[in-house]
Amino acid sequence: MKRTIRLLAIVAACTVSALAQSQDAPPEEAVAADAQPVEQPTPRYVDLRRMRPLTGNVAAGEAKSELCAACHGPQGISIAPTFPNIGGQRMDFMYWQLVEFKRNPDSPMSPLVADLTDQDMLDLSAYYASLTPPPADPAAEPEPVDATLARLGEQLYLTGDPAKGIPPCQGCHGVDANGHPDALRTDRDGHTPYASYPALRGQQAIYLQTKLAEYRDGRMDDSTTDFVMTGIGERLDDDSIQALSAWLSSLPPGQ
Ligand code: HEC
Ligand code: HEC
Repeated sequence: MKRTIRLLAIVAACTVSALAQSQDAPPEEAVAADAQPVEQPTPRYVDLRRMRPLTGNVAAGEAKSELCAACHGPQGISIAPTFPNIGGQRMDFMYWQLVEFKRNPDSPMSPLVADLTDQDMLDLSAYYASLTPPPADPAAEPEPVDATLARLGEQLYLTGDPAKGIPPCQGCHGVDANGHPDALRTDRDGHTPYASYPALRGQQAIYLQTKLAEYRDGRMDDSTTDFVMTGIGERLDDDSIQALSAWLSSLPPGQ
């Protein structure tokens, strides 16, 4: 319990500093995904357009996951709505998020990854990707979902809104919201350009809202994939964000 309280204090402190941070114009240099991710001097963002498939050791990852479970839960279903669920998330997405947390000191995650090696981050990502989140506890009170809002969210997700310039989310996050439909496809140069497009189904509603507002407000600029999603976020108004988050969070996580 003491440990959890200390961790929550880290989160609170880091969140305040993240809010206080000002934003720069889009950067000009990038590091190739094949290169050593944490080289000095640190390039301003990670280029994920030409990355190679990643592998990690699931058992080793499980052995290293005790600290993570304090916030993300033992099965990767988080203990609080502001912490993302990571069980069943795409391995490549998680690995590159961890790399970005290491490069950027402003996330609540930054102090938690500071001492992780590259191999630790691969193993932890492989472990969480391998988990199938458990079905909802039948004894637990189901989260109330506004059915009209959720239907609007589903429609936006599947067909977009041409009047507002919102493309269908499913084109990049999959019709089942489990990630890009071509996530596992390797191109002729051996790259997997879509492997790090995240799954969204069953994510915490509050986390989705926070994240979508961060893209909309141009606060995500750590990687080329951040820029892709920023182009979408800029078109979302508060009502669209509410509707999308309500629907996505109402889906059972995992496959
Ligand atoms: C103190 C609570 C806490 C602990 C402990 C913690 N996390 Fe996190 N994690 C968070 C929060 C909060 C975020 C959201 C960070 C942000 O948006 O900047 C996050 C984000 C993430 C993400 C990105 C998920 C997404 O959908 O974008 C991954 C992956 C992750 N954590 C993995 C881990 C791993 C692996 C560990 C153990 C080494 C760990 N976390 C430990 C709170 C925690
Ligand atoms: C053109 C492709 C594309 C489209 C269309 C798209 N996204 Fe994304 N989205 C991405 C990529 C790439 C990322 C990963 C960004 C990063 O690295 O942080 C992402 C990240 C996200 C995240 C952060 C997930 C997490 O766990 O941190 C959310 C939430 C999200 N998208 C929701 C949406 C919604 C809702 C829509 C439809 C309105 C949408 N996206 C449309 C490509 C897209």
